[in-house]
Amino acid sequence: MNPYRVLPIFTPEKVEEYRNRNFYELSPHIYALADEAYRSLRDQDKDQCILITGESGAGKTEASKLVMSYVAAVCGKGQEVNKVKEQLLQSNPVLEAFGNAKTVRNDNSSRFGKYMDIEFDFKGDPLGGVISNYLLEKSRVVKQPRGERNFHIFYQLLSGASDDTLKKLKLDRDFSKYNYLSLDSAVVNGLDDAANFRTVKNAMQIVGFMEDEVQSVLELVAAVLKLGDIEFKPESRCNGTDESRIKDKNDLKEMCELLGIEQSVLERAFSYRTVEARLEKVSTTLNVAQAYYARDALAKNLYSRLFSWLVTRINESIKAQTKARHKVMGVLDIYGFEIFEDGDNSFEQFIINYCNEKLQQIFIELTLREEQEEYVREGIEWTNIEYFNNAIICDLIENHQNGILAMLDEECLRPGTVTDETFLDKLNTICAEHQHFESRLSKNSKFLTDHSLPHNCFRIQHYAGKVLYRVEGFVDKNNDLLYRDLSQAMYKANHSLIKQLFPEGNPAKVNLKRPPTAGFQFRASVGTLMKNLQTKNPNYIRCIKPNDKKASHIFTDSLVCHQVRYLGLMENVRVRRAGYAFRQAYEPCLERYKMLCKRTWPHWRGPAREGVEVLMADLPVPAEEFSFGRSKIFIRNPRTLFFLEERRRQCLQDLATLIQKIYRGWKCRSHFLLLKKSQIVVAAWYRRYAQEKKYQKIKSATTVVQSYTRGWQARKLLRELKYQKRCEEAVTTISAFWHGTQVRREYRKFFRANAGKKIYDFTIQRIMQKYFLGLKSTMPSMSPIDKSWPARPYRFLDGVHRELPRIFHLWRCKKYRSQFTEEKKAVYEEKLEASEIFKDKKALYPSSVSQPFKGDYLEISKNPKYQKLNSAVDEKVLLADVVNKINRANGKGTARIFLLTKKSVVLADQKTGQVKASVPLPDLASVSVSTQSDGFFALRLKEGSASAVKGDFLLSSEHLIEIITKLHRTGATAADSEQLNVDISDEFLVQFKHDKVCVKFIQGAPKNGNSVSCKRKNNRLLEVSVPTTA
Ligand SMILES: Nc1ncnc2c1ncn2[C@@H]1O[C@H](COP(=O)(O)OP(=O)(O)OP(=O)(O)O)[C@@H](O)[C@H]1O
Ligand SMILES: [Mg+2]
Repeated sequence: MNPYRVLPIFTPEKVEEYRNRNFYELSPHIYALADEAYRSLRDQDKDQCILITGESGAGKTEASKLVMSYVAAVCGKGQEVNKVKEQLLQSNPVLEAFGNAKTVRNDNSSRFGKYMDIEFDFKGDPLGGVISNYLLEKSRVVKQPRGERNFHIFYQLLSGASDDTLKKLKLDRDFSKYNYLSLDSAVVNGLDDAANFRTVKNAMQIVGFMEDEVQSVLELVAAVLKLGDIEFKPESRCNGTDESRIKDKNDLKEMCELLGIEQSVLERAFSYRTVEARLEKVSTTLNVAQAYYARDALAKNLYSRLFSWLVTRINESIKAQTKARHKVMGVLDIYGFEIFEDGDNSFEQFIINYCNEKLQQIFIELTLREEQEEYVREGIEWTNIEYFNNAIICDLIENHQNGILAMLDEECLRPGTVTDETFLDKLNTICAEHQHFESRLSKNSKFLTDHSLPHNCFRIQHYAGKVLYRVEGFVDKNNDLLYRDLSQAMYKANHSLIKQLFPEGNPAKVNLKRPPTAGFQFRASVGTLMKNLQTKNPNYIRCIKPNDKKASHIFTDSLVCHQVRYLGLMENVRVRRAGYAFRQAYEPCLERYKMLCKRTWPHWRGPAREGVEVLMADLPVPAEEFSFGRSKIFIRNPRTLFFLEERRRQCLQDLATLIQKIYRGWKCRSHFLLLKKSQIVVAAWYRRYAQEKKYQKIKSATTVVQSYTRGWQARKLLRELKYQKRCEEAVTTISAFWHGTQVRREYRKFFRANAGKKIYDFTIQRIMQKYFLGLKSTMPSMSPIDKSWPARPYRFLDGVHRELPRIFHLWRCKKYRSQFTEEKKAVYEEKLEASEIFKDKKALYPSSVSQPFKGDYLEISKNPKYQKLNSAVDEKVLLADVVNKINRANGKGTARIFLLTKKSVVLADQKTGQVKASVPLPDLASVSVSTQSDGFFALRLKEGSASAVKGDFLLSSEHLIEIITKLHRTGATAADSEQLNVDISDEFLVQFKHDKVCVKFIQGAPKNGNSVSCKRKNNRLLEVSVPTTA
């Protein structure tokens, strides 16, 4: 029952309350039915259909949405599933905007029939859906009955679209600007067109319409509005006929711009009509009425085709993506039975009511007739319940030979003048006898006086009441004619959607055949729908309208009573009460419930019926609750069925547990067996490994023991062999020794006496030899002063070692001497003599060693200065030098030339060369010198000699050593002279003429410097200070 107000019984809590609950448990509710249908679809794999019937405004559309929302709430969830659900639900607002309108009976009346198949997978998750639409009431586009509106979308677009959109669509927000929009009920209470427009746009987006598709759809809607504003005016032609002209081309222009049609093409299509016969084409002009007819036909076609395209487009989006087998739940929401009280019912109402008639028929067929017939057929005791079968009315309408639709088609196709009146005449003739057909002029003239029945009308007694139809427009609407010029003009449009909508306008595909009539098409699609519904498990929602005022809290008894009656609900209840709630063939019943009885579970071998009997007998179900038919079991109460179902559910749970138990047992056992098998394999491998290891150990131990034993044996053998060998060797040795002893004993007498000396000599000889040979390479140098000598290797060589260096030195010296010349020899002899005289006696000596004795320092023979002197000396000069003659008076020196010859010493003046004194060598007694480094020497003359008269000479010379040495030598070699004495002392006496003066040499003080100074101290003392030699 339509409450006409929002009741708090469609909340999520209610969904939960009804979810998975048995049908009879809770109070009746759409959710209970939806749940039942959904569960039997999911659990029993039966396709379902939900048939929603009732008058217009009874609440069918709302009920269908409730069913869908319930199913959406209880089925599976997930991203993909939710998307499908959302798309399915959002298809409703789109279709309602384009296919619903406000009527006098319902502010949101469905003006099309809708059947929606929702597809589910085996889990009960929605996969997609398919929508079928049935004949849109398109006449509404161009004209609406009083108090009604055009389709919602027109008002929604003008109220809800932004200014910008409207500008693009070249529309004005003012409804009054558009001829196709009735003004008297443009605004409906409680209907917010602007908000609904947003809802529709959003829904289109969710369903999957592209931005440009939405735009195209709106352009078409705008084009329809524009089309309504094109008006025509008559223009008389010269041949007397009227021709139409477009009044104001502005609207036409804007419409053409919207649809991308060339204005001239459309203009021409509104002015002419081309009729094509087989070979010829005839163009006739259209008068104003025809032009208006053409315009409206175009508007209707445009809109209805757009609607069909929308359904196809939605189907594309909501199509199930998988090809897998699916289950289907169909929801049928068709326009409700409709009567205009003032008899203004037309072709549309006829079609709508025919459809409802068919639905009532299917309901009766399945619930009343079929069920009762079944009881009889199955042999169940049954008292027949009478009911009204509307098959006769259906037949009146759809009969192929003389049904009203067939008549209409025949009339439309008939050549000649065809009008609505000729159609009515035909009906009057053919259907006159039909008890549900009434007409003023029908043959049986039963209604000749019935003034409620106008002449241009016929009346049908529908199951829901009598409806008076005005025949006006029946033929045209059935023909649904659109001039080909117009469809071709549409096809030429530069607008993708328009082009698609008018495929017959394609000049390449000109089809001269008449298209099927609207009535024919509808009858065919209703036929298909009925067949489809019969294949599914039906569920009925019968909507009842409480009042005609669309108001809540008003319950018009008569109206409700009428509905209950014509819907056959009373009969239905009676059949239900007397009959059985559930029936099922024995096989599937046994299959379904066999687990409830031990005897039928798991297999029943006998006939199925017996099985079911055994099963039912076993269960605590009273016998009156079920009956056995010929092929089916009948269960009276849903309660019993639900009891069975509940038991089955429990049983299935137990069975599931059993299966689980067995499966788990099997799984564990197989796992155990696998483990055992694996354990054996592992153990075998391990044992093998352990034995192998043990064997290896024993083997290696055996080898060790063996090797030790063998070693021990070998060593023992070796010992024996060695012993044997040693014994043999010992014998040999003993015998050798013995023989040796023997031989030595025999030969001792031959070599013992001198062997030792010989060996000794030999050894010594060898050692000596080695020593001398070694000496060859280690000999010291040939220098006579070299004192080195290699060490002796043996002590016994001591003597040799002492002797050899001496001999070597002598020999070395001899060698050295032998290189000297005679002069050099003499020089060395002199040096030797000097050494003998002065060495270690006079401090001056060491410094003279290195100076060679030159002798003639003055080169007296060569120097002409000394020629005279040289000549005065007849002997060879051995030494010539300048000396200082010390003056005895002051100790100072006077330079004198000192000459030595073989016979005498001559002193001469250095400058003149005059001989001052000449002393023959034999007169010299001795020579005195100091021990120090001075060059003073005194020549002491022999007393009594001739030279001694002048006294001794105290001289000093730089070549003192040479002078003295030569003097000494010369004196020695002179035959007649004695050896000259050389006195070396630091104090000696010198005889000056008469006096003897003592010459004393002292170490010089430092202040005297380095030079030798001689001072007369007193008469008898000359002191010579000699610097200390460092
Ligand atoms: N369950 C409900 N709760 C509240 N209001 C409801 C309910 N069902 C229907 N109505 C009201 O009744 C109006 C008409 O309902 P609905 O459009 O479903 O009728 P219908 O049977 O589909 O009519 P038609 O045959 O004309 O399409 C709705 O607009 C709504 O206001
Ligand atoms: Mg509806």
